[in-house]
Amino acid sequence: MAVLVTGGAGYIGSHACVELLLSGRDVVVLDNFSNSSPVALKRIKDLTGKSFRVYNVDLLDKAGLEHVFSENDIEAVLHFAGLKAVGESVSVPLKYYRNNVIGTVYLCEVMQQYGVKRMVFSSSATVYGVAENVPITEDSRLTAINPYGRTKLMIEELLHDIYQADDEWRIAVLRYFNPVGAHSSGKIGEDPKGTPNNLMPYIAQVAAGKRPQLSVFGANYPTKDGTGIRDYIHVVDLALAHLKALEYIQAHAGIEAFNIGTGVGYSVLEMINAFEQASGKTIPYIVSERRNGDVALCYANPDKARSRLKWQAKRDIHAMCEDTWRWQSNNPNGYQSVSDSRQAPIEKESPLVKTAAFLL
Ligand code: NAD
Ligand code: UFG
Repeated sequence: MAVLVTGGAGYIGSHACVELLLSGRDVVVLDNFSNSSPVALKRIKDLTGKSFRVYNVDLLDKAGLEHVFSENDIEAVLHFAGLKAVGESVSVPLKYYRNNVIGTVYLCEVMQQYGVKRMVFSSSATVYGVAENVPITEDSRLTAINPYGRTKLMIEELLHDIYQADDEWRIAVLRYFNPVGAHSSGKIGEDPKGTPNNLMPYIAQVAAGKRPQLSVFGANYPTKDGTGIRDYIHVVDLALAHLKALEYIQAHAGIEAFNIGTGVGYSVLEMINAFEQASGKTIPYIVSERRNGDVALCYANPDKARSRLKWQAKRDIHAMCEDTWRWQSNNPNGYQSVSDSRQAPIEKESPLVKTAAFLL
């Protein structure tokens, strides 16, 4: 029996694949590589010494999905695949509704068709919108303030409806706070295309000299130093939460949402300081205008995950910064680095990987 990982070549999915393989699970990856590189998959194999099947299939390709389920004995799905850029979702909302919502509808239809009714879904703290109270608990009011957030909310709702209609479904909805960091080997990490939208990859690129300075989006928030506070969670801790969620749904029917965060908030200035310490580099910054849609404070109450999933974040802010810096320094151009081209990376467009599986 295998776990299907949609979006397994992406930032969080690749870390989850490593932990799944190391825990002895069989893994099948499905990805269309729209925001990732097949090189990540080679790195997963190098790190774990384990082989796994990979399908270059789009969630919107229903025949392709059926092909994956017909060729593999799948017990559960970790559903990471989706588009995640908030700004882009405002400019091209239909692309987000199509990819994220319709893609998930197709996936669930095919799961149902093949009797696979276990899913761990990648939701986001964005479903809390501007939270009325922090730390945020799972029963807080849900709302979305942009199309990306609305796709997450719609998917959460459609998953509830699926369970209402068929109580054999077992679904864990994980609401991630701010994933950062990289695998401690420095072999896999976050590889944003173009200018990073998020704080940590931006800081890392400034430290590496790829960008001259960071813009701190507002220093007049009602917080300890005036800058925005977030709950940064190490991506390996986040990956491990998925293993716990898989164990949980094995034992519990129903649909449950869990906050996946540390419960501790850090400001932008604290993150800059921590990164300077970890990297030994100075991070020049200027204070600029607040970014539209940003909130002052966002951090989790992670008690439910601790008590029900038996999961707790273990890696602190120093590990988050050190591991990000190791990944950034070892891979200045992400997965496009020179050493990878010498290893003849798998071609995205190769007919071999179009829909048929390739084994890594
Ligand atoms: P990512 O972009 O690195 O990974 C997503 C992967 O899904 C990519 O490999 C992409 O190629 C693939 N994909 C996208 N659309 C697809 C489709 N139609 N068919 C097949 N594959 C497709 O993103 P990530 O940071 O690893 O995020 C994973 C999930 O977690 C996403 O659903 C995202 O919304 C959610 N999430 C991320 C964050 C964050 O800050 N990174 C926070 C909260 C929630
Ligand atoms: N920030 C800066 N400068 C930058 C980038 C960010 O000062 O160049 C600040 C932001 O204003 C915010 C903090 O750093 O105070 C964190 O910003 P990120 O963009 O890293 O993260 P967000 O909390 O804004 O958003 C992230 C994901 C969203 C998700 C949300 C909640 O990008 O997709 O967490 O999970 F919805």
